[in-house]
Amino acid sequence: MPISFTRENSLFRLTTKNTLYAFDIVKGKLIHRYYGKKAGAVVKTFADEPGDVWSFAPYAKEGEVYFSLDTQPLEYSCFGSGDFRTTALRIKNGAGNSVTGFDYVSHKIRKGRVEIPNIPCGRADERTQTLDITLRDTASGCELHLYYTVFYDCDVISRYASVTNKSGGDVVIEKWMSLALDLPGHNYDVVSLAGAHCFERVFNERTPVFRGNLSMCSRRGASSHQMNPFMAVCDRKADENHGDVYGFNFVYSGSFLNEVEGDQTGKTRVQVGLGEENFNYRLKDGETVFAPEAVMTYSAKGFGPMSRNFHHFTNDHIVPEKAKERRPVVLNSWEAFYFDIDENIMVDFAAAAAECGMDMVIMDDGWFGARVNDKAGLGDWYVNRNRFKEGLAPYVERVKNTGVKFGIWVEPEMANPDSDLFRAHPEWCIRCPERPMSYSRSQYVLDMANPEVIEYLKGMFEETFRGVPIDYFKWDMNRHISEPGSMYLGAEDQGSMEYRYMQGVYSLFKWFRETYPDAMIENCSGGGGRYDLAMMAVCSQIWTSDNTNARTRTLIQYSSMLAYPASVMSCHVSNPHGNMHELDLKYKVAVNGVLGYEFNVLKTPEEVKEEIRRQVREYRTFDRVITDGEYYRLSSPYESDVSAYYFELGDQILLSAIHTNGKAVIGRKKPCTKLAVRTADANATYRDTRTGMTVTGEQLKKGIEIGEFAPDESGWDAKLWHFVKE
Ligand code: DGJ
Repeated sequence: MPISFTRENSLFRLTTKNTLYAFDIVKGKLIHRYYGKKAGAVVKTFADEPGDVWSFAPYAKEGEVYFSLDTQPLEYSCFGSGDFRTTALRIKNGAGNSVTGFDYVSHKIRKGRVEIPNIPCGRADERTQTLDITLRDTASGCELHLYYTVFYDCDVISRYASVTNKSGGDVVIEKWMSLALDLPGHNYDVVSLAGAHCFERVFNERTPVFRGNLSMCSRRGASSHQMNPFMAVCDRKADENHGDVYGFNFVYSGSFLNEVEGDQTGKTRVQVGLGEENFNYRLKDGETVFAPEAVMTYSAKGFGPMSRNFHHFTNDHIVPEKAKERRPVVLNSWEAFYFDIDENIMVDFAAAAAECGMDMVIMDDGWFGARVNDKAGLGDWYVNRNRFKEGLAPYVERVKNTGVKFGIWVEPEMANPDSDLFRAHPEWCIRCPERPMSYSRSQYVLDMANPEVIEYLKGMFEETFRGVPIDYFKWDMNRHISEPGSMYLGAEDQGSMEYRYMQGVYSLFKWFRETYPDAMIENCSGGGGRYDLAMMAVCSQIWTSDNTNARTRTLIQYSSMLAYPASVMSCHVSNPHGNMHELDLKYKVAVNGVLGYEFNVLKTPEEVKEEIRRQVREYRTFDRVITDGEYYRLSSPYESDVSAYYFELGDQILLSAIHTNGKAVIGRKKPCTKLAVRTADANATYRDTRTGMTVTGEQLKKGIEIGEFAPDESGWDAKLWHFVKE
């Protein structure tokens, strides 16, 4: 069984395929004992050791000076009870102070998992088990549940929590982390995926842990382009194939906080949870609220297995079952026409998609309300009859007659001030009425914490899409939350607005999925601004970045795959301007994920269309290797002049090398001239379906020469091999 409890020593053991996690109960507190290789010994460090006395460390009982919460490796630490490190939970009680202290009461080992109301979480399978621990704070009258769910096969353990108020009055949760872990030692580096709009998720920094607090967060009401919720803590020498690496992530799309803190005793505290700055959740007597799920994995062999564990977890437990179907190759209208679309253009565009062998055309922004530029129309989800004279249904029928499926763009969470929606309901936007509202892309954010707003949106979409056979929604979100106030919530509940906003958003996603069960949803937030596990759980894939330049995309995609699989990574070939080298480069970069195209193919020379047809045909021969295969990094574009990696599925290997202008981005240039496919079958012969070249598995394992690149004037070129066992 993945979870066990031994009464004699009060020890909990959580096992996955390759890892063990252990903690026990000492004096009512949960003391962390071990997280690592399964073969490792559960070491009783720190606690119970009478010698482990630190001056100035408070202790609960006279005579028990050696047992201080300030020095113990704790499973979950609370504010104000003697642990001066950063803590996981702070609740302001009825007396007005925020001292919080929970003690173990009981536990249950459950089959499956505990669902989190209106927040996505990992899907259980028949092996999934959950440890549900009940703790009580008698002083504040609150009950805490700590949940540990074990996803055995992918070496992932998740952590989440709930608080029930049994105090007879109100309490306010002021800080709330889902996951806390005290690791032995300080000798770690922290890796995060910070970025920016059009340059999301950059894997080029390692920050050493020190005796202080490193915090990585989003305060934007969205998981954001600027900082992704993923984080790794690794030993200082860890690389792709060596060293201890702990990976963490958060199944949530709003503001978050990741913390890593080195303490005086030589331990490192890691925490993942809700963003603290605008979180003050008033919990009324008798109410229960949940902290979203955080996940962790451990690899004894570097970053490679950590990434593969998270890829498995995402594919098997996060993305909807629907996404397992073959993903369509789409042609998207945005970079082709921006707002200048109408029925005839879009029908011709669909016909061109069909002619090029693609599966679907996506009608992006510009089809509704007064939306002829980004200044107006958001919120008015009815078709623009000047552009689509007969309405949506007859137009979509014309699209389908060309032989492709149909997808449509929506941005439900927003309103332009110049919209009928805003004119009728200015109080439905997020705002503080006593202050001016900030613009961003000329738009405001709707108050998704208000159920009336959600119901209104459902009604509007239901009417507009009634009888329209939609196969795909692209759900966008193009600004962050400023002036975070809700005119729906009372003064005491303002601090829960962002959390309730996310619950409202997820409930609208749920409605879309239930109302249009045959449609896929692609998530987007000005590119990859909500590239997180919760969005992956309600959508099938995510638009990786608005930056479609092959060079920058190489970096963004390489970094994104540190935490997320290729199956969710939507990658489009943008305008190659009739340049065949550019088209080839963009295609080879895009086949790192789910292929699509996004430029005006109506104005494209015949030879370009012919090449696109060939690319789509070829992609279909190996797309499953990309979306379902195992991924191995070979060379980082940040450290070398080559970005190289391969995917492996059954008898097939898809190997890529992208030459990046002869420079390493951060200057630590490591040469890369050979590509070693370490997992190839030494007894087999492989044939490259692209060139007919054959090579033995032994040669592949040792490494094949990359050979000469043929760069264009920008200095970039790419190579692709599709090996199939003979
Ligand atoms: C931002 C997205 O990232 C683009 O792909 C496009 O959909 C625009 N929004 C449309 O306004």
